[in-house]
Amino acid sequence: MNKHLHPIFDRFLQRPDRERRLRQHSKVLWLTGLSGSGKSTIAQHLERRLYNEGYYPQALDGDNIRSGINNNLDFTDEGRRENIRRIAELSKLYINSGIITINSFISPTAAIRQLAREIIGQDDFIEIYINAPLEVCEARDVKGLYKKARAGEIPGFTGVDAPYEPPENPALEVRTDQQDLNDSVRVIFEFIEPIIKYRKS
Ligand code: ADX
Repeated sequence: MNKHLHPIFDRFLQRPDRERRLRQHSKVLWLTGLSGSGKSTIAQHLERRLYNEGYYPQALDGDNIRSGINNNLDFTDEGRRENIRRIAELSKLYINSGIITINSFISPTAAIRQLAREIIGQDDFIEIYINAPLEVCEARDVKGLYKKARAGEIPGFTGVDAPYEPPENPALEVRTDQQDLNDSVRVIFEFIEPIIKYRKS
């Protein structure tokens, strides 16, 4: 860090002040999984469900963030790492704002997710593995990208010619090829509710 910087975070409003106002505990729900596994769809429905239940969530996802703040990044390992580093830093700001963020990023390697966990902090980082076999994601091919990747038009596509390392010890795993969208959203909601529910302290 530049030695001429003098952060004064402690003089601003603090996270507990904002959590009290929003009546929730802020966390980062980190959805990881292959393209087409269902991360963004689950995030959209989960965000709506949380909102309807009185919580204040914010979803962030790959296609949106990469067309804005991260539009200068590619899909090399270095580009993905920087993508996730910035998102983790953004998430930390949201945490301090008392907001529950739902992040949907492939975040393909254990090292990249570890970086996010370290930036956000172990207690606030909730890793959720959105799991569907590659064959299923490829058969869905919602965006038509697997077809292009197989045709050699997208070099370094995750699952085709770039790695995806499944999380070894996620807080929760959802098999989207075995249960429908409503069940996936319900399972995640029921898992996180006790964690985000406001407790007077
Ligand atoms: S990550 O690997 O850096 O975490 P991120 O979640 O932001 O990826 O972006 C993934 C989305 O970018 C995919 O859903 C897909 O629409 C698009 N995409 C474009 N090129 C690639 C690629 N080479 N590998 C994976 N996804 C890609």
